[in-house]
Amino acid sequence: LSSRRGFLLGGAAAVGIVATRGWPLVPARAYAGEIPASGSSDVVLRAGAARANLVSNPAYPTDVWAYNGTVPGSEIRMRQGQRLRARLVNNLSQETTIHWHGIRVPNAMDGVPGLTQTAVKPGDSFDYVFDLPDAGTYWYHPHANTTEQLGRGLYGPLIVEEAEPLRVDRELVWMLDDWRLDETAAIDNGFNAMHDVGHAGRIGNVVTINGKVPDDVTVRPGERIRLRLLNAANGRIFALDFAGLAPTVIALDGHPVTPHALDTPMLLLGPGMRCDLVIDVPVSGKTSFPVMDRFYDGMENTLATLVVAGAAVRDRVADWDMALKPNPLPEPDLDQAIRQNLIYSGGMMGDMILQQMIKSRHITPEMLGHMGVDVSGATGSGDMAGMGGMANMMRSMFGAGNVWAVNGRDPDRDGDGPLVTVDRGQTCHLTLMNATAWLHPIHLHGHAFRLLARNDVAVPYQPWIDTVLIAPGERVEIAFVADNPGDWLIHCHILEHKVGGMSGVIRVL
Ligand code: C2O
Ligand code: CU
Repeated sequence: LSSRRGFLLGGAAAVGIVATRGWPLVPARAYAGEIPASGSSDVVLRAGAARANLVSNPAYPTDVWAYNGTVPGSEIRMRQGQRLRARLVNNLSQETTIHWHGIRVPNAMDGVPGLTQTAVKPGDSFDYVFDLPDAGTYWYHPHANTTEQLGRGLYGPLIVEEAEPLRVDRELVWMLDDWRLDETAAIDNGFNAMHDVGHAGRIGNVVTINGKVPDDVTVRPGERIRLRLLNAANGRIFALDFAGLAPTVIALDGHPVTPHALDTPMLLLGPGMRCDLVIDVPVSGKTSFPVMDRFYDGMENTLATLVVAGAAVRDRVADWDMALKPNPLPEPDLDQAIRQNLIYSGGMMGDMILQQMIKSRHITPEMLGHMGVDVSGATGSGDMAGMGGMANMMRSMFGAGNVWAVNGRDPDRDGDGPLVTVDRGQTCHLTLMNATAWLHPIHLHGHAFRLLARNDVAVPYQPWIDTVLIAPGERVEIAFVADNPGDWLIHCHILEHKVGGMSGVIRVL
């Protein structure tokens, strides 16, 4: 009876197994994760079927889709300012593309089928060629049938090294993912399930680092490690607890930030997001440091354990500078900015939060009326909270059968043009309002933006990022100079939410 999950656990104590809609969450174990560098600027990425050993038991390989046969796909490692030439060869039985997540590419290289290119047919190939203006931790993945293609293993890291590299003893790249596997370690075929679309996305039952259920990572006393974290999961949010290790955040979504300790007890990493940490391994004391994921209540889970062993690298921790040189991003000019609200609504239990935001006047009937939402049921100025008004509004927002809406519609599907049109070079200031009961990592293509404020409170360090995690009821202000012409997606990186309508276009003229 208990052997049903035995292969996943590899005989380890079943710590932290919990049910997620009947899926056991398997505690992460075992893996010292480094992936080989390609070292070349000319890369061929063949997307196709492959087999991978995701779980610890080699008797249960998993049929995956992968780049060059491995999960993650080949690490692409380049220098800032270099030109990347990457040929996508489509050996899948369906159309695909590659999106270079976080890289400020020319629009035609952005990999969005139907928007920036024609999808690459089975058997065909496509050459992506672009410069790498920014150093940092980036990644690549398909943007066609993304829930399934990414969910089956098509993704890889793209590391752009600084012109003057940061001094560390060792660098680790951890690409986090989760998988929904059955008892033979086969991938569950139910992509785009309505329940996943309307709730938290497709949450898996097996967590991997670099395509493996993680093992212990051996580190040495006094060693300085740069840990590049990437979340490649469809829907899973990680809340990482590095208790005892006191990591320093040096970059977010690739871009340098003033080095600082975590400002929350845990590092929140939503789908699509990256974080670079510097970890100084203590020279004495504890020798085992579990990195815990505590996002899901009562489901805390050891992601991996850093085990200190061997001779000390030095007798006290390094004190080398951790500040990275900023990337060449144009500074927003808020006085000249075009300003736009993006109101995200829908999903299960969404009307509650929308009602609260209307009651608190953070969202007004004027705003919604302006967006073409039917506010005729409103009984007076600001009284949108009445049931009749609410029902009308919901009907007009989701009449097309969509689950999620941006400004009262699914701009992707409705086909009535961009959410925002900006002149090239103008600053775009967006207020993103999460009027839903769910968290959303909202990702902008083609640009990085400054994160200015959350609920009217200035964010420390105002980091440059490309994906911002927004809590239910939260209002987030971002700004960027729209210097990259073209049509750029802005969408939720919980891929099932994007399928359900949480997506739109920003047009830079
Ligand atoms: Cu990483 Cu439009 O996505
Ligand atoms: Cu979302």
